[in-house]
Amino acid sequence: MEYKLRKAEPRDVSDILRLVKELAKYEEMEHQVKLTEKDLLEDGFGDTPFYHCIIAEIQGENSSDDPKVLGFAMYYFTYDPWIGKQLYLEDFYVMDQYRGLGIGSKILHHLSDLAMKTRCTGIMFVVAENNAPAVQFYKRHGAEDLSQEEGWRVFRFDKNSLVRMAGGAEE
Ligand code: ACO
Repeated sequence: MEYKLRKAEPRDVSDILRLVKELAKYEEMEHQVKLTEKDLLEDGFGDTPFYHCIIAEIQGENSSDDPKVLGFAMYYFTYDPWIGKQLYLEDFYVMDQYRGLGIGSKILHHLSDLAMKTRCTGIMFVVAENNAPAVQFYKRHGAEDLSQEEGWRVFRFDKNSLVRMAGGAEE
C-alpha cells in the first residue's frame, strides 16, 4: 500500500482532531477531549508552535480524490537537565484498518531520525498501563519502561489547582 509521511499543515487540523478523538476513544477517555480545531490551529501554527505533527496519508481510490489521513504522531520538544533535549511523543495513532502494516514503525523511525537531527538524546512518552499492544509495540522497538525500572509517577496540577495557586501569587 502506497502511503507517505509529511509534516502537518494548518489544513490538517480537522484530521488531527479526528485522530486525537479516535485515540481518546480507543483509550476510553473520549469525553476528556475539550480541544477545538481553532485551538489546534492557534497552538500548532502560530508564532510559537506548541506542538508538531507527522501525518501519514494514502492517495484516495481515484487519482482525483483527496489523499486520506490515516495516522499521525504529535510531538514537541522538552528539556532534561541531566541529558538535554528530548522529543516528547504526545499522541500516536494509526487507524484500525491500517494497523499492522508497518506504518507505525515507519513513523517511529521518522521521529527517531528527527530526534537525532535535532540532537535529542531520547524520545519520552507515557502509555496507559492497560494498553498492552502499545506497550509491546514500544518494547519491541527497544523502549525502557521507566515506571517499572525507576519508579516514576506521572503528576499534573489541573486548572482548579492553577487558579488556586496563581491566586496566591500576590499574597
Ligand atoms: N493492529 C496492531 N498491530 C498489529 C496488528 C493489528 N491489527 N496486526 C499485527 N500487528 C503487529 C505488527 O505485526 C507489528 O508487530 P512487530 O512490531 O513485531 O512488527 C505491530 O503489531 C505493529 O507495528 P506497525 O504495523 O509498525 O505499527 P502500526 O501501524 O500498527 O502502529 C500503533 C502502531 C500506533 C501503536 C497502532 O497500532 C495504534 O494506533 N494503536 C492504537 C492506538 C495506540 O495504542 N496508540 C499509542 C498510544 S501511546 C502514545 O500515544 C504515546
